[in-house]
Amino acid sequence: MLSKLASGARGRISRVSSQITSSFAAKRALGSNVQSRSFACKAVVCGAAGGIGQPLSMLMKLDPNITELALYDVVPVVKGVAADLSHVNSSCQITGGFTPDNVDDAFKGCNIVVVPAGVPRKPGMTRDDLFNINAKINYDLAMAAAKNCPDAMFLIISNPVNSTVPIWAEALKKAGCYNPKHLMGVTTLDITRANTFVAENQGTDVNETSVDVIGGHAGTTILPLLSQVPNAKFSQEDIEKLTHRIQFGGDEVVKAKDGAGSATLSMAYAGAEFASLVARAMTGEAGIKACAYVESTVVPDTTFFSTPVSLGKDGVEQVHGYGTLSAFEQKGLDEMLPDLKGQIKKGQDFVATK
Ligand code: NAD
Ligand code: LMR
Repeated sequence: MLSKLASGARGRISRVSSQITSSFAAKRALGSNVQSRSFACKAVVCGAAGGIGQPLSMLMKLDPNITELALYDVVPVVKGVAADLSHVNSSCQITGGFTPDNVDDAFKGCNIVVVPAGVPRKPGMTRDDLFNINAKINYDLAMAAAKNCPDAMFLIISNPVNSTVPIWAEALKKAGCYNPKHLMGVTTLDITRANTFVAENQGTDVNETSVDVIGGHAGTTILPLLSQVPNAKFSQEDIEKLTHRIQFGGDEVVKAKDGAGSATLSMAYAGAEFASLVARAMTGEAGIKACAYVESTVVPDTTFFSTPVSLGKDGVEQVHGYGTLSAFEQKGLDEMLPDLKGQIKKGQDFVATK
């Protein structure tokens, strides 16, 4: 199955436990691992002072696959966040907290750019309602990245992902440095949720549960492939309820936070997991697969789509198909496409008018 995130659930456990142990008992052992790495990986988190940015930066600071980390935000408190994080005794070095005054220093030499910058939803809003503010933020960040680290991997978390990823693509094209292998919309939170909800439903170990989620990252464009979950048995009612919960898991959090934002901690976890997979693949580790929203020809006339991809030293090595769909999933796919295509075009049109 293409449904495994890298080495699958066991990889998740070992990575999280290595993050935890890196700050405690086994710190020295992990430190020596890092010294033996042949690839120094510098990352920048854009929006690092935010609800996602802070915990994401902490998880990346604990990741033995990241050797240097820059924190960038428009608010000056990012310098304090960087100072705070720099006291954590893990191998990754914090290069500083950067603001627009020294944006070039934040991006220079980066191999991985992770982007949770921008405004989050409030109850009653769709992700598309964030477009007007977040489109410009992402365009400007893409231009800064193009100037300072054009060959980096760009991992986009800012919503609406279905449109912000095409914005990055068009902006990077305009700057003359677009490489489709290097641009990935982060849909890992959908997989994280799917694994959690399916394991609860099936009474299985979540660490042994792996669900592929395809399409995009907004409402019905999020399509979990429950028919492909190994050894699972679902009633039709389960399928409909689980699909809906995975598609609208973000709304569940937005409603519960009641105006104070959207998912931050689960997104930080998911974002750190995906960044770690990208970094591991860049070191030359083989066999790493994950779902991501990338330039794709898997679905006709749909230029960006999320399916499992193989990651390698140069980013997205191969975009995989989604296998055989159930009739329910096929209907979901057919029905989402007009929305998804419209959201892609909206991002592309935004850059065309700049
Ligand atoms: P937040 O408001 O807590 O943090 C956003 C941060 O971005 C702030 O610190 C802000 O100062 C900063 N920022 C604004 N403009 C910037 C710019 N031009 N350059 C650098 N930084 C800038 O919001 P949050 O909860 O962290 O969410 C951030 C984004 O992530 C939102 O768009 C949200 O919808 C999205 N999100 C995506 C997923 C996903 O699955 N892809 C999940 C959760 C949230
Ligand atoms: C999520 O899925 O939690 C994020 O996209 C944030 C949101 O607005 O729901």
